[in-house]
Amino acid sequence: MNMTTRPRRLRSSEALRRMVRETRVDAASLVYPMFVTDGKDKKEPIEAMPGQYRYSLDRMGEALDMLAGAGVNSVMLFGIPTQKDPVGSQAYAADGIVQRAVNRAKVLHPEMYVITDVCMCEYTSHGHCGVLCGHEVDNDKTLGLLAKTALSHVEAGADMVAPSDMMDGRVRAIREALDANGFTNKPIMSYAVKFASAFYGPFREAAGSAPSFGDRKGYQMDFHNRREAIKEALLDVEEGADILMVKPAMAYLDLVREVYDATNLPVAAYSVSGEYAMVKAAAANGWIDEERVMCEMAVAAFRAGAGIYISYYAPELARCIREGKIG
Ligand code: PBG
Repeated sequence: MNMTTRPRRLRSSEALRRMVRETRVDAASLVYPMFVTDGKDKKEPIEAMPGQYRYSLDRMGEALDMLAGAGVNSVMLFGIPTQKDPVGSQAYAADGIVQRAVNRAKVLHPEMYVITDVCMCEYTSHGHCGVLCGHEVDNDKTLGLLAKTALSHVEAGADMVAPSDMMDGRVRAIREALDANGFTNKPIMSYAVKFASAFYGPFREAAGSAPSFGDRKGYQMDFHNRREAIKEALLDVEEGADILMVKPAMAYLDLVREVYDATNLPVAAYSVSGEYAMVKAAAANGWIDEERVMCEMAVAAFRAGAGIYISYYAPELARCIREGKIG
């Protein structure tokens, strides 16, 4: 057989496969999303996300210790307040759940990089991501509240804010509020390309943030659209975003690549609750190899162009990197 090119040649040993590997992964790229809640002595399991919990502030240290031990140095905090109202006032209260959690995280683990999710849906009684005007979310009225929320997070010590509400103009509104208050160096990671997705189902159970009527299609993107993703990404670049996120991850990796090619900002991919739940459920049935599937999903996101991977599997991924299973 006369074949000049034999791709298998480069696959003939582990050493060689590692040498020619095109995608390198590093635990420094991982971010762990974590839920904090009011009350005492709580580590409440989230049913549809086995292995994930809602922590009260007196116990959040357990999660941070576990992360630090695993080599994960970034967290993204989601708050679950006890009180909700139509204007989500606990989202921007100086003593709100996230504000106190940021504070505590910085006391317990000053080296931990703390990102906060900026949104209203966990804090509004109607579960929508902004204030309502009739049955619609009022975009421009919501902007001021998002800016206030982001500012309260950085005042509490957050290292970065991540708006996930999908209101038009929120990145600019947040940038202006941070700058006006001397926080010119706090970066914004924008959920720039966020789809109205059924993959968020388990999260909404975890955070009690499902909308009480309607859906989020009036502000989150239609999953049929690709060019609109670029439009959203470029708008956020213009408004001053520092990092662009695509969410969910697994079913949207084409857009991770498109956003990577169309901009010069770091791209983050968020592997959301439904992705985690599917892997857990299939693994619990013995139908897939959990660790290998988790590794393939993460590497695929990096291969698509993500520089940051937000995942409930972050500690396990860090271990796989350390053990040389990926990397
Ligand atoms: C808040 C927010 C959501 C997620 C992150 N931030 C829920 C939503 O938009 O309904 C989903 C994260 C996940 O599913 O893991 N708006």
